[in-house]
Amino acid sequence: MEVGVLTRNEFSWCSLQLKQALNLRSCRFTCFSFNDLTAYVGFENSIRFKGRPIEKLDAVIVRPIGRGSLEEIIFRMDLLRAIENSGVYVVNKAEAIEKAVDKYLSLFLLEKAGLPVPRTIVTENPRISLEAFKKFNSRVVLKPIFGSRGFGITRVRSRQTLYRLAAVLSYYRHVVYMQEYIPHSREDVRAFVVGDSVVASMRRVGASWRTNIAQGGKSEPYKLSEELKETALKACRVLGCEVAGVDILNPSGEYCINEVNSQPDWRGLQNVSEVNIAGEIVDYVISKVKR
Ligand SMILES: Nc1ncnc2c1ncn2[C@@H]1O[C@H](COP(=O)(O)OP(=O)(O)O)[C@@H](O)[C@H]1O
Ligand SMILES: [Mg+2]
Repeated sequence: MEVGVLTRNEFSWCSLQLKQALNLRSCRFTCFSFNDLTAYVGFENSIRFKGRPIEKLDAVIVRPIGRGSLEEIIFRMDLLRAIENSGVYVVNKAEAIEKAVDKYLSLFLLEKAGLPVPRTIVTENPRISLEAFKKFNSRVVLKPIFGSRGFGITRVRSRQTLYRLAAVLSYYRHVVYMQEYIPHSREDVRAFVVGDSVVASMRRVGASWRTNIAQGGKSEPYKLSEELKETALKACRVLGCEVAGVDILNPSGEYCINEVNSQPDWRGLQNVSEVNIAGEIVDYVISKVKR
């Protein structure tokens, strides 16, 4: 068996963990980036990585897709689809990533499935920001519709500021994504899902209201209730994510799912977890290939 690790940086902490877990299981692997992938149409092999046919691999573990132009990102998703189409097991799949990274589409699907999510208003029309400000009782979070690690997110407490920000965003051809602020004491919880189980969980305590580890948040051990575990698993099923970090706001009260991260980092979580998370991912992938 040979597993591909699709990563921008094979020496990043998570990729090293995956490599170690694969080594421990005597599983052959190759790391490559999107830049190492080429698509062929009208040839025998449709996708090659580092010059080799993709069919040489049994599975591909996808690490962060990274930033890129719209056409680069669409092409990367096309590549994932073509790899899957070649019979190689891909985790997470393009369809799941596309649903999860789109902050509107993911909440729409989660809500449709009956899961609690924050009230959100999304528009290209900056004037709607005035309506959102009122509906959210002056407590608005403005987010990039495609964003991660807490960057570009801001809380807006003034009607006029919100309108101006919305107008600027719209001028630069951004979608205006506004959400009600869910009061919390600088903390949320993350459930790390692999396949059909929550393999680890943590509380994240933020340096500010943004609890992202990338924004200075710290991880603490946290045991999820069965109800929250079920909620996290359902969210992953709805979006088709096999490996994901599900973030839940206000876990001990009227909780809601803030987002499902389809390309999660797990360094902070590993620090407070007993299980080896990379090992869980690798075992899952191996079990899927053997089936
Ligand atoms: N509606 C909200 N109410 C309260 N806190 C929020 C809300 N939305 C986001 N946050 C905080 O900001 C962080 C980053 O927001 P998130 O939507 O997860 O974006 P990103 O994809 O950049 O992580 C969350 O982890 C949470 O701590
Ligand atoms: Mg987040």
